[in-house]
Amino acid sequence: MNYNITYKPKQFNLSGLNGISDKTLEMHFKLYEGYVKNTNTLNEKIAGFWKEGTVDQEEMPDYSELTRRLGFEYNGMVLHEHYFDSMKKGATGDPPKTSSFFKAAERSFGGFEIWKREFASIGNMRGVGWAICYEDPATGYLSNHWITLHEVGNVAGFIPILVMDVWEHAFLLDYKPADRPKYIEAFFSNVDWAVVEGRLQKATTQRTAASK
Ligand SMILES: [Fe+2]
Repeated sequence: MNYNITYKPKQFNLSGLNGISDKTLEMHFKLYEGYVKNTNTLNEKIAGFWKEGTVDQEEMPDYSELTRRLGFEYNGMVLHEHYFDSMKKGATGDPPKTSSFFKAAERSFGGFEIWKREFASIGNMRGVGWAICYEDPATGYLSNHWITLHEVGNVAGFIPILVMDVWEHAFLLDYKPADRPKYIEAFFSNVDWAVVEGRLQKATTQRTAASK
């Protein structure tokens, strides 16, 4: 535990997205800021237990409960940052066929459209959580996963390349619960593929450097 860390909420200029209203975004930014605040609060409280240099038996249940909540709050903070950061106003649809992401999707899934269908299907699963496309650092392949809440299902060491929020708060002001597929289509239409490309290239550079 680093007692000195204080996270600050990032700012995202996303008004005017396609199919995701400004009202939804404003509400969603506030929710995200709550995760940043709660992460800081948890860290402060946990640090409080360590002031004496030890956690005694009496404190252990409270200390354990707070520590277990770190996974929820940290992932809630970080995944929202990935999500917001990879959308932009005026996005142009699918990534270029020459992009690393397009080629990685072909290599990993047999085609970009097949990757997209699988990613959308994961996003349409019942329950609240996230669809995340990672790069597997061992193989370089893309890998789609379902994350329950914020913390159940993240794969240690895998690098998030595209992150889609499918909690109902992400779309309920704009769509009915049963219309989640429409929200997912709207999400795809807003993806900033240059950001996704940057994440993939960074992951590839790290992987290549690590294997030398
Ligand atoms: Fe969210």
